[in-house]
Amino acid sequence: MFVSFEGCEGVGKSTQLRLLKEYLDKTGQRAVYIREPGSTEISEQIRRVILDPKNTAMRDMTEALLYAASRAQLVREVIKPALARGELVVCDRYVDSSVAYQGYGREMGAELIKQINAPAIDGCMPDMTVFIDLNPENSWRGYRTSDRLEQESNEFFDKVYNGFINEIEASNGRIVAIKPDFDKNITSQKIISAMRDRGIIR
Ligand code: TYD
Repeated sequence: MFVSFEGCEGVGKSTQLRLLKEYLDKTGQRAVYIREPGSTEISEQIRRVILDPKNTAMRDMTEALLYAASRAQLVREVIKPALARGELVVCDRYVDSSVAYQGYGREMGAELIKQINAPAIDGCMPDMTVFIDLNPENSWRGYRTSDRLEQESNEFFDKVYNGFINEIEASNGRIVAIKPDFDKNITSQKIISAMRDRGIIR
């Protein structure tokens, strides 16, 4: 099984991934944990190019293709082999992030981004996508780090959020929106029970 996690910046996605791993470890369920862009040597090199704040000249198309390139490597080097071994794969961001950030945020269009990514993912779509549903306006982003994408305007992040919301409807139930609770443990329980209901984990 293949599960991806999505959400805007500062919605507690990394905390939730950590709590999921704690639950799976405690219950003796193994998984392969990866993040995008990255998680192979080549994909991490591509990540540095994409997120480097010095790369202000980067064009939208270059950015979209670099995310797809990083993904193409990860699919072939890690995801497909792990799925073939029957392992659970948990990925922090995947193609829905490209659709939301590049398709809607950069206004390149969801369809174009899906077309660019089709050969990269080569049919490898998540069985379930957990979308942590928090509008950037209400996010618990008390801080802002400084990679190239995090320097975008609030307007950009609103477009990204609305993009995710549009894609939920288009996903035929694959993307499951979870509204985070103020208590991170309650949010984690919501995520775990949604994953159990779908037979992804025990
Ligand atoms: P990261 O520090 O991993 O962000 P986060 O902790 O919020 O997941 O940086 C990844 C950034 O890249 C993040 O701003 C989202 C963006 N992104 C895209 O724009 N398109 C993509 O396809 C992916 C995977 C990420």
